[in-house]
Amino acid sequence: MRFDFDTVLDRRNTHSLKWDHCRTTFGLDDVIPMWVADMDFAAPPSVVEAVQRRAAHGAYGYASVPESFWESAIGWLRRRHGWTVNRRWLARAPGVVPAVSLCVNAFTQPGDGVVVQTPVYYPFFRAIEQNGRRLVRNPLVPDGNTYRMDLADLERKIDDQARLLILCSPHNPVGRVWTREELERLGDICVRRNLVVLSDEIHMDLTLPGHRHVPLATISPALAERTVTCVAPSKTFNLASLSMALVVAGNPELLARYVAQFDAAGLVIASLFGTVALEAAYRDGDEWLDQLLDYLAANVDYADGFIQERIPALRFIRPEGTYLALIDCRKLGMAQKDLDDFFLRTAGVYFDSGPWFGEEATGFERINLGCPRQTLSEALERIERAVNSRQQAAGSRR
Ligand SMILES: Cc1ncc(COP(=O)(O)O)c(C=O)c1O
Repeated sequence: MRFDFDTVLDRRNTHSLKWDHCRTTFGLDDVIPMWVADMDFAAPPSVVEAVQRRAAHGAYGYASVPESFWESAIGWLRRRHGWTVNRRWLARAPGVVPAVSLCVNAFTQPGDGVVVQTPVYYPFFRAIEQNGRRLVRNPLVPDGNTYRMDLADLERKIDDQARLLILCSPHNPVGRVWTREELERLGDICVRRNLVVLSDEIHMDLTLPGHRHVPLATISPALAERTVTCVAPSKTFNLASLSMALVVAGNPELLARYVAQFDAAGLVIASLFGTVALEAAYRDGDEWLDQLLDYLAANVDYADGFIQERIPALRFIRPEGTYLALIDCRKLGMAQKDLDDFFLRTAGVYFDSGPWFGEEATGFERINLGCPRQTLSEALERIERAVNSRQQAAGSRR
Protein backbone atom coordinates (compact mmCIF):
# COMPACT_ATOMS: atom_id res chain seq x y z
CA MET A 1 0.00 0.00 0.00
CA ARG A 2 1.22 3.49 -0.77
CA PHE A 3 0.53 6.18 1.77
CA ASP A 4 -0.25 9.76 0.88
CA PHE A 5 2.01 12.45 2.32
CA ASP A 6 1.36 14.97 -0.45
CA THR A 7 -2.21 16.01 0.27
CA VAL A 8 -2.33 19.23 2.27
CA LEU A 9 -4.52 18.81 5.37
CA ASP A 10 -6.11 22.01 6.58
CA ARG A 11 -5.26 21.97 10.28
CA ARG A 12 -6.63 25.41 11.07
CA ASN A 13 -9.34 25.37 13.76
CA THR A 14 -8.64 21.75 14.68
CA HIS A 15 -7.16 22.51 18.13
CA SER A 16 -3.71 22.56 16.53
CA LEU A 17 -1.18 24.49 18.59
CA LYS A 18 1.10 24.72 15.56
CA TRP A 19 -1.54 26.18 13.26
CA ASP A 20 -3.56 28.33 15.67
CA HIS A 21 -0.71 30.01 17.54
CA CYS A 22 0.15 32.78 15.06
CA ARG A 23 -3.47 33.89 14.89
CA THR A 24 -4.18 33.71 18.62
CA THR A 25 -0.84 35.18 19.73
CA PHE A 26 0.13 37.62 16.96
CA GLY A 27 -3.21 38.14 15.22
CA LEU A 28 -1.64 36.87 11.97
CA ASP A 29 -3.62 34.56 9.73
CA ASP A 30 -1.40 34.04 6.70
CA VAL A 31 1.66 32.51 8.30
CA ILE A 32 3.05 29.06 7.50
CA PRO A 33 3.90 27.55 10.88
CA MET A 34 7.17 25.63 10.84
CA TRP A 35 7.82 25.66 14.55
CA VAL A 36 6.60 23.17 17.18
CA ALA A 37 7.60 19.57 16.38
CA ASP A 38 4.56 17.87 15.01
CA MET A 39 3.89 16.92 11.40
CA ASP A 40 1.15 18.06 9.03
CA PHE A 41 0.36 14.45 8.14
CA ALA A 42 -2.44 12.22 9.38
CA ALA A 43 -1.26 9.30 11.51
CA PRO A 44 -1.06 5.88 9.77
CA PRO A 45 -4.50 4.61 8.68
CA SER A 46 -4.13 1.61 11.03
CA VAL A 47 -3.76 3.99 13.98
CA VAL A 48 -6.59 6.28 12.88
CA GLU A 49 -8.85 3.24 12.48
CA ALA A 50 -7.95 1.86 15.92
CA VAL A 51 -8.67 5.22 17.56
CA GLN A 52 -11.91 5.69 15.57
CA ARG A 53 -13.09 2.20 16.46
CA ARG A 54 -12.54 2.85 20.15
CA ALA A 55 -14.01 6.38 19.93
CA ALA A 56 -17.17 4.99 18.31
CA HIS A 57 -17.85 2.93 21.43
CA GLY A 58 -18.77 6.07 23.31
CA ALA A 59 -17.83 5.18 26.89
CA TYR A 60 -14.56 6.84 27.84
CA GLY A 61 -14.11 5.70 31.42
CA TYR A 62 -10.76 4.88 33.00
CA ALA A 63 -8.47 2.89 30.71
CA SER A 64 -6.66 -0.34 31.45
CA VAL A 65 -3.40 -1.18 29.70
CA PRO A 66 -3.41 -4.67 28.18
CA GLU A 67 -0.38 -6.97 27.88
CA SER A 68 -0.63 -6.54 24.09
CA PHE A 69 0.33 -2.86 24.56
CA TRP A 70 3.67 -3.85 26.09
CA GLU A 71 4.22 -6.65 23.58
CA SER A 72 3.71 -4.20 20.74
CA ALA A 73 6.35 -1.80 22.16
CA ILE A 74 8.81 -4.63 22.83
CA GLY A 75 8.34 -5.91 19.25
CA TRP A 76 8.95 -2.44 17.82
CA LEU A 77 12.18 -1.87 19.73
CA ARG A 78 13.44 -5.29 18.66
CA ARG A 79 12.42 -5.00 14.99
CA ARG A 80 13.39 -1.40 14.37
CA HIS A 81 16.37 -1.00 16.69
CA GLY A 82 17.66 -4.51 17.46
CA TRP A 83 17.05 -3.73 21.14
CA THR A 84 15.77 -6.62 23.24
CA VAL A 85 13.84 -5.16 26.12
CA ASN A 86 12.21 -7.05 28.95
CA ARG A 87 8.65 -6.21 30.06
CA ARG A 88 9.98 -5.61 33.59
CA TRP A 89 12.17 -2.77 32.26
CA LEU A 90 9.21 -0.71 31.02
CA ALA A 91 7.02 1.95 32.56
CA ARG A 92 4.62 4.47 31.10
CA ALA A 93 4.69 8.26 31.02
CA PRO A 94 2.12 10.77 29.80
CA GLY A 95 4.82 12.25 27.54
CA VAL A 96 8.57 12.55 27.35
CA VAL A 97 8.56 16.08 28.78
CA PRO A 98 6.81 14.95 31.99
CA ALA A 99 9.06 11.86 32.10
CA VAL A 100 12.15 14.08 31.98
CA SER A 101 10.90 16.14 34.93
CA LEU A 102 10.02 13.03 36.92
CA CYS A 103 13.48 11.59 36.18
CA VAL A 104 15.21 14.79 37.29
CA ASN A 105 13.36 14.47 40.60
CA ALA A 106 13.98 10.72 40.80
CA PHE A 107 17.74 10.76 40.18
CA THR A 108 18.95 14.04 41.68
CA GLN A 109 18.55 16.18 44.79
CA PRO A 110 17.86 19.93 44.88
CA GLY A 111 21.10 21.75 44.06
CA ASP A 112 22.61 18.84 42.13
CA GLY A 113 24.05 19.52 38.69
CA VAL A 114 22.33 18.18 35.57
CA VAL A 115 24.33 18.30 32.34
CA VAL A 116 22.82 19.07 28.94
CA GLN A 117 24.48 19.48 25.57
CA THR A 118 23.37 22.83 24.23
CA PRO A 119 21.80 24.01 22.02
CA VAL A 120 19.15 21.50 23.03
CA TYR A 121 15.39 20.89 23.37
CA TYR A 122 14.47 23.71 25.74
CA PRO A 123 12.00 21.93 28.07
CA PHE A 124 15.12 20.24 29.50
CA PHE A 125 16.08 23.62 30.99
CA ARG A 126 12.71 23.96 32.73
CA ALA A 127 12.80 20.38 34.02
CA ILE A 128 16.14 21.14 35.65
CA GLU A 129 15.74 24.70 36.87
CA GLN A 130 12.08 24.64 37.90
CA ASN A 131 12.85 21.60 40.03
CA GLY A 132 15.62 23.49 41.81
CA ARG A 133 18.52 21.69 40.14
CA ARG A 134 21.56 23.33 38.60
CA LEU A 135 21.79 23.53 34.82
CA VAL A 136 25.27 22.54 33.61
CA ARG A 137 25.90 23.37 29.96
CA ASN A 138 28.23 21.28 27.85
CA PRO A 139 27.91 23.09 24.52
CA LEU A 140 28.16 21.18 21.27
CA VAL A 141 30.89 22.37 18.94
CA PRO A 142 30.06 23.55 15.42
CA ASP A 143 32.22 21.57 13.02
CA GLY A 144 31.86 22.57 9.38
CA ASN A 145 28.20 22.08 8.60
CA THR A 146 27.56 19.84 11.60
CA TYR A 147 28.14 19.58 15.35
CA ARG A 148 30.16 17.31 17.59
CA MET A 149 30.35 16.72 21.33
CA ASP A 150 33.02 18.45 23.40
CA LEU A 151 34.00 15.66 25.77
CA ALA A 152 36.99 17.51 27.26
CA ASP A 153 34.60 20.29 28.30
CA LEU A 154 32.20 17.66 29.66
CA GLU A 155 34.95 16.19 31.87
CA ARG A 156 35.72 19.65 33.20
CA LYS A 157 32.07 20.48 33.88
CA ILE A 158 31.32 17.31 35.88
CA ASP A 159 31.90 18.34 39.47
CA ASP A 160 31.13 16.54 42.72
CA GLN A 161 27.52 17.63 42.55
CA ALA A 162 26.77 16.61 38.99
CA ARG A 163 24.54 13.52 39.09
CA LEU A 164 22.69 13.31 35.79
CA LEU A 165 23.31 13.89 32.09
CA ILE A 166 20.34 14.35 29.79
CA LEU A 167 21.28 13.13 26.33
CA CYS A 168 19.20 14.04 23.30
CA SER A 169 19.65 11.21 20.77
CA PRO A 170 19.04 11.86 17.91
CA HIS A 171 19.66 15.47 18.79
CA ASN A 172 17.08 18.23 18.55
CA PRO A 173 17.83 20.81 17.15
CA VAL A 174 21.23 20.08 15.57
CA GLY A 175 19.92 16.93 13.85
CA ARG A 176 22.82 14.65 14.74
CA VAL A 177 22.33 10.89 14.90
CA TRP A 178 25.14 10.09 17.30
CA THR A 179 27.44 7.31 16.11
CA ARG A 180 28.28 4.26 18.18
CA GLU A 181 31.83 5.62 18.67
CA GLU A 182 30.56 8.95 19.95
CA LEU A 183 28.14 7.23 22.32
CA GLU A 184 30.89 4.90 23.54
CA ARG A 185 33.17 7.80 24.37
CA LEU A 186 30.38 9.72 26.09
CA GLY A 187 29.33 6.55 27.91
CA ASP A 188 32.87 5.92 29.19
CA ILE A 189 32.84 9.30 30.86
CA CYS A 190 29.42 8.76 32.42
CA VAL A 191 30.47 5.38 33.81
CA ARG A 192 33.82 6.67 35.08
CA ARG A 193 32.30 9.81 36.64
CA ASN A 194 29.28 7.99 38.02
CA LEU A 195 26.52 9.90 36.23
CA VAL A 196 23.05 8.54 35.58
CA VAL A 197 22.13 9.15 31.93
CA LEU A 198 18.64 10.07 30.89
CA SER A 199 18.59 9.34 27.18
CA ASP A 200 15.75 11.09 25.38
CA GLU A 201 15.39 8.95 22.25
CA ILE A 202 12.00 10.26 21.14
CA HIS A 203 13.41 10.85 17.63
CA MET A 204 14.96 7.35 17.43
CA ASP A 205 12.76 6.18 14.55
CA LEU A 206 13.41 9.26 12.43
CA THR A 207 16.81 8.69 10.86
CA LEU A 208 17.76 9.78 7.37
CA PRO A 209 19.58 7.63 4.78
CA GLY A 210 23.10 6.65 5.80
CA HIS A 211 22.47 7.08 9.54
CA ARG A 212 21.48 4.50 12.11
CA HIS A 213 20.25 5.15 15.62
CA VAL A 214 22.03 3.25 18.38
CA PRO A 215 20.07 3.05 21.66
CA LEU A 216 22.46 4.21 24.37
CA ALA A 217 21.54 1.32 26.66
CA THR A 218 22.79 -1.19 24.06
CA ILE A 219 26.34 0.20 24.08
CA SER A 220 27.60 -1.77 27.09
CA PRO A 221 26.28 -3.53 30.21
CA ALA A 222 27.97 -0.89 32.38
CA LEU A 223 26.13 1.88 30.57
CA ALA A 224 22.84 -0.06 30.54
CA GLU A 225 23.08 -0.16 34.35
CA ARG A 226 22.95 3.65 34.56
CA THR A 227 20.78 4.56 31.58
CA VAL A 228 17.10 5.45 31.63
CA THR A 229 15.66 5.89 28.13
CA CYS A 230 12.55 7.71 27.00
CA VAL A 231 10.87 6.56 23.80
CA ALA A 232 7.48 7.36 22.30
CA PRO A 233 5.43 6.91 19.14
CA SER A 234 4.46 10.58 19.25
CA LYS A 235 7.06 12.13 16.90
CA THR A 236 7.25 9.06 14.66
CA PHE A 237 3.51 8.74 14.01
CA ASN A 238 2.30 12.26 14.84
CA LEU A 239 0.47 11.32 18.04
CA ALA A 240 1.75 14.02 20.40
CA SER A 241 -1.64 15.01 21.80
CA LEU A 242 -2.52 11.45 22.75
CA SER A 243 -0.13 11.61 25.71
CA MET A 244 1.73 8.33 25.71
CA ALA A 245 5.42 7.62 26.14
CA LEU A 246 7.56 4.89 27.66
CA VAL A 247 10.46 4.85 30.07
CA VAL A 248 12.94 1.98 29.71
CA ALA A 249 15.45 1.05 32.40
CA GLY A 250 17.23 -2.29 32.74
CA ASN A 251 18.34 -1.34 36.25
CA PRO A 252 15.39 -2.16 38.56
CA GLU A 253 16.46 0.37 41.17
CA LEU A 254 16.42 3.23 38.66
CA LEU A 255 13.08 2.13 37.25
CA ALA A 256 11.60 1.90 40.76
CA ARG A 257 12.78 5.42 41.53
CA TYR A 258 11.11 6.69 38.37
CA VAL A 259 7.89 4.80 39.12
CA ALA A 260 7.80 6.21 42.67
CA GLN A 261 7.81 9.75 41.21
CA PHE A 262 5.19 8.79 38.63
CA ASP A 263 2.92 7.38 41.35
CA ALA A 264 3.48 10.34 43.66
CA ALA A 265 2.50 12.74 40.87
CA GLY A 266 -0.81 10.92 40.48
CA LEU A 267 -0.19 9.83 36.90
CA VAL A 268 -1.10 6.17 37.21
CA ILE A 269 -4.20 6.13 34.99
CA ALA A 270 -3.27 6.02 31.29
CA SER A 271 -4.69 7.96 28.38
CA LEU A 272 -7.18 5.64 26.66
CA PHE A 273 -6.49 6.91 23.15
CA GLY A 274 -2.76 7.00 23.79
CA THR A 275 -2.90 3.35 24.84
CA VAL A 276 -4.86 2.31 21.75
CA ALA A 277 -2.70 4.40 19.41
CA LEU A 278 0.69 3.25 20.73
CA GLU A 279 -0.29 -0.37 20.41
CA ALA A 280 -1.57 0.01 16.85
CA ALA A 281 1.37 2.18 15.74
CA TYR A 282 4.08 -0.07 17.11
CA ARG A 283 2.31 -3.21 15.85
CA ASP A 284 1.35 -2.08 12.34
CA GLY A 285 3.31 1.09 11.58
CA ASP A 286 6.46 -0.22 9.87
CA GLU A 287 5.44 0.24 6.26
CA TRP A 288 4.00 3.70 6.87
CA LEU A 289 7.17 4.77 8.67
CA ASP A 290 9.42 3.46 5.90
CA GLN A 291 7.51 5.60 3.40
CA LEU A 292 7.46 8.60 5.74
CA LEU A 293 11.25 8.37 6.04
CA ASP A 294 11.60 8.43 2.24
CA TYR A 295 9.35 11.46 2.11
CA LEU A 296 11.21 13.29 4.86
CA ALA A 297 14.57 12.50 3.23
CA ALA A 298 13.28 14.04 -0.01
CA ASN A 299 12.08 17.10 1.95
CA VAL A 300 15.52 17.49 3.49
CA ASP A 301 17.15 17.24 0.04
CA TYR A 302 14.66 19.73 -1.33
CA ALA A 303 15.20 22.30 1.45
CA ASP A 304 18.96 21.85 1.32
CA GLY A 305 19.12 22.30 -2.47
CA PHE A 306 16.68 25.21 -2.46
CA ILE A 307 18.53 27.16 0.22
CA GLN A 308 21.95 26.54 -1.33
CA GLU A 309 20.86 27.55 -4.81
CA ARG A 310 18.30 30.24 -4.18
CA ILE A 311 18.91 31.81 -0.75
CA PRO A 312 22.70 32.04 -0.46
CA ALA A 313 22.51 34.35 2.57
CA LEU A 314 21.20 31.39 4.63
CA ARG A 315 22.97 28.17 5.54
CA PHE A 316 20.97 24.98 6.04
CA ILE A 317 22.39 22.62 8.66
CA ARG A 318 21.55 19.30 7.08
CA PRO A 319 20.10 16.94 9.69
CA GLU A 320 20.98 13.24 9.94
CA GLY A 321 17.75 12.50 11.78
CA THR A 322 14.53 14.16 13.06
CA TYR A 323 12.42 16.31 10.73
CA LEU A 324 13.87 19.46 12.28
CA ALA A 325 16.83 21.50 11.07
CA LEU A 326 18.71 24.61 12.03
CA ILE A 327 19.12 27.43 9.56
CA ASP A 328 22.09 29.71 10.11
CA CYS A 329 20.89 33.27 9.44
CA ARG A 330 23.88 35.13 10.84
CA LYS A 331 24.87 36.54 7.46
CA LEU A 332 21.74 38.68 7.59
CA GLY A 333 23.37 40.51 10.49
CA MET A 334 20.12 41.00 12.40
CA ALA A 335 19.50 40.97 16.13
CA GLN A 336 17.50 37.86 17.07
CA LYS A 337 14.28 39.72 17.83
CA ASP A 338 14.44 41.47 14.44
CA LEU A 339 15.27 38.19 12.73
CA ASP A 340 12.30 36.39 14.33
CA ASP A 341 10.01 39.31 13.44
CA PHE A 342 11.35 39.45 9.90
CA PHE A 343 10.50 35.79 9.25
CA LEU A 344 7.11 36.07 10.95
CA ARG A 345 5.90 39.42 9.62
CA THR A 346 7.80 39.98 6.37
CA ALA A 347 8.27 36.43 5.09
CA GLY A 348 5.15 34.92 6.71
CA VAL A 349 6.74 31.82 8.20
CA TYR A 350 7.07 31.01 11.89
CA PHE A 351 10.06 29.13 13.29
CA ASP A 352 11.38 28.08 16.68
CA SER A 353 13.84 30.84 17.48
CA GLY A 354 17.42 29.55 17.84
CA PRO A 355 18.13 30.97 21.32
CA TRP A 356 15.15 29.07 22.79
CA PHE A 357 17.57 26.12 22.60
CA GLY A 358 20.45 28.02 24.14
CA GLU A 359 22.50 31.10 23.41
CA GLU A 360 24.75 28.99 21.16
CA ALA A 361 21.97 29.08 18.55
CA THR A 362 21.74 32.87 18.42
CA GLY A 363 21.34 33.94 14.81
CA PHE A 364 19.67 30.62 13.93
CA GLU A 365 16.10 29.51 13.39
CA ARG A 366 14.79 25.95 13.57
CA ILE A 367 12.62 24.81 10.69
CA ASN A 368 10.16 21.90 10.83
CA LEU A 369 10.21 19.86 7.60
CA GLY A 370 7.40 17.49 8.60
CA CYS A 371 4.90 18.73 6.02
CA PRO A 372 3.75 18.11 2.44
CA ARG A 373 6.20 19.26 -0.23
CA GLN A 374 3.74 21.91 -1.37
CA THR A 375 3.74 23.54 2.08
CA LEU A 376 7.52 23.34 2.25
CA SER A 377 8.05 24.84 -1.18
CA GLU A 378 5.62 27.67 -0.48
CA ALA A 379 7.42 28.43 2.78
CA LEU A 380 10.83 28.36 1.10
CA GLU A 381 9.59 30.65 -1.68
CA ARG A 382 8.31 33.11 0.92
CA ILE A 383 11.68 33.02 2.66
CA GLU A 384 13.49 33.44 -0.66
CA ARG A 385 11.46 36.52 -1.60
CA ALA A 386 11.86 38.18 1.79
CA VAL A 387 15.56 37.43 2.29
CA ASN A 388 16.69 38.16 -1.24
CA SER A 389 14.84 41.44 -1.47
CA ARG A 390 16.26 42.48 1.87
CA GLN A 391 19.75 41.57 0.70
CA GLN A 392 19.25 43.46 -2.57
CA ALA A 393 18.03 46.54 -0.72
CA ALA A 394 21.00 46.34 1.65
CA GLY A 395 23.35 45.87 -1.34
CA SER A 396 22.00 48.91 -3.17
CA ARG A 397 22.43 51.05 -0.04
CA ARG A 398 26.11 50.12 0.16
C1 LIG B 1 13.92 15.79 22.27
C2 LIG B 1 12.46 15.87 22.55
N1 LIG B 1 11.95 15.33 23.66
C3 LIG B 1 10.64 15.38 23.95
C4 LIG B 1 9.75 16.01 23.09
C5 LIG B 1 8.28 16.08 23.43
O1 LIG B 1 7.86 14.95 24.09
P1 LIG B 1 6.35 14.78 24.57
O2 LIG B 1 5.46 15.45 23.56
O3 LIG B 1 6.19 13.28 24.61
O4 LIG B 1 6.25 15.38 25.92
C6 LIG B 1 10.24 16.59 21.92
C7 LIG B 1 9.33 17.30 21.02
O5 LIG B 1 9.75 18.04 20.17
C8 LIG B 1 11.62 16.51 21.64
O6 LIG B 1 12.14 17.04 20.53
